Amino acid sequence: MDRYIVVGGNRLSGTVRMSGAKNAILPVMAATVLTPGDHLIRDVPRLRDVEVMKEILEALGARVQPEEGGRSLLVNTDGLNASEIPEDLMREMRSSIFLMGALLGRMGQVRCCHPGGCAIGSRDIDLHLMGLGALGADIHEKYGYINASAGRLVGREIYLDLPSVGATENIMMAAVLAEGTTIVRNAAKEPEIVDLQNFLNGLGARIKGAGLDVIRIDGVTQLHPGEHTVIPDRIETGTFMVAAAIARGEVEIENVIAEHVEAITAKLRETGATVRVEKDRVVVSADRRARAVDFKTLPYPGFPTDMQPQMMALMCTADGTSIITETIFENRFKAADELRRMGADVKVEGRSAIIKGVPRLSSAAVEGPALREGVALVLAALTADGVTTVEGVHHIERGYEALEQKLASLGADITRETWREPRPVRQYAG
Ligand code: UD1
Repeated sequence: MDRYIVVGGNRLSGTVRMSGAKNAILPVMAATVLTPGDHLIRDVPRLRDVEVMKEILEALGARVQPEEGGRSLLVNTDGLNASEIPEDLMREMRSSIFLMGALLGRMGQVRCCHPGGCAIGSRDIDLHLMGLGALGADIHEKYGYINASAGRLVGREIYLDLPSVGATENIMMAAVLAEGTTIVRNAAKEPEIVDLQNFLNGLGARIKGAGLDVIRIDGVTQLHPGEHTVIPDRIETGTFMVAAAIARGEVEIENVIAEHVEAITAKLRETGATVRVEKDRVVVSADRRARAVDFKTLPYPGFPTDMQPQMMALMCTADGTSIITETIFENRFKAADELRRMGADVKVEGRSAIIKGVPRLSSAAVEGPALREGVALVLAALTADGVTTVEGVHHIERGYEALEQKLASLGADITRETWREPRPVRQYAG
């Protein structure tokens, strides 16, 4: 039940290092179950979602232990002895669905309930089930549980109606041990899919095309354990880029793949911020109020939906009116209600949000309803007038490692308050 307390108005400056990508490590961890042995994963972010994936792997019989001072994880999958994913863990995050493809590949069966995750839309799993079914899995749903089983899966051509990131990854994992060739058309092209391809090929899989819209997987009969360094988190990078712009500072962000944040770089430049791209870092500076810009979320390489709430926070204090169109999730403007409490002028009409920038936000007690929406409120609080309390830290720590330490190291006035029930009654001047 923690919350952040943020005193707005500090300029940010300094250097901050990005962690390994949440959306890359989760499928990689799931993929370790494909073959017995010791897998070493490096640049592991300390996140709640990684902890949940670790608990799922352990429930399936794997051993997961930190190495190299916690920066790496050693996953031993020799003792895998279960194919049912515990319901409480399955409901904690959507990425638990990745275990379906991997467990079908290794154990020939899997039982789980529908996954949980941030409530940002209906988040169907029909494409996951269609893809696994096309490879020959026999799938039944009863009493809210999904049971899938197969002998050896068989490669097929699969067309995705929309380029779902998770379905692409799930099908890749199931197909590596299938008989024959699987072709995934209209595949998602996110960098995390390329990272998964690299990990799987390191285990002996034969996958080509990740990062393009057709992926070819030639099935193999055996894999071996592997080592992998997770790519830097492009959404954490984008979040710190926006932090620099909103708090009108100069921030050097290290451990970055600049190509992965091109859409964010381009949008921030349109707002008037300066973004200098160097080898494995970006430097973002802004010395005046951002210009309002319009943007639309799209699958990669378009502007990522996972950066939409943070950019919305920046637009709340921009000069002019901006229109944001959300095309990926149908319910992803939840930050708007809380930003309004801080004095923002945001109107939501269907898939669009219309934001009239105000010169300064004011402090308030707000609550982050989900991961990216929560961090957007922290960004807004950095520039608000007075002391803002942001609840919902448990959502934010699903995807941000040491957010408050990283922001504080750049000069932000942010602390984390932990309390046991009953919560202390405390008033902050606004
Ligand atoms: C992944 C990311 C998440 C990001 C999202 C979109 C991970 C762990 N999470 O989520 O941070 O916000 O991509 O970039 O990588 N859909 C269906 N049927 C399906 C699957 C998806 O209709 O079977 C729909 C979803 O409801 C959503 C859209 O497709 O509207 C995109 O979802 P998808 O690309 O699958 O996102 P995730 O893999 O869940």
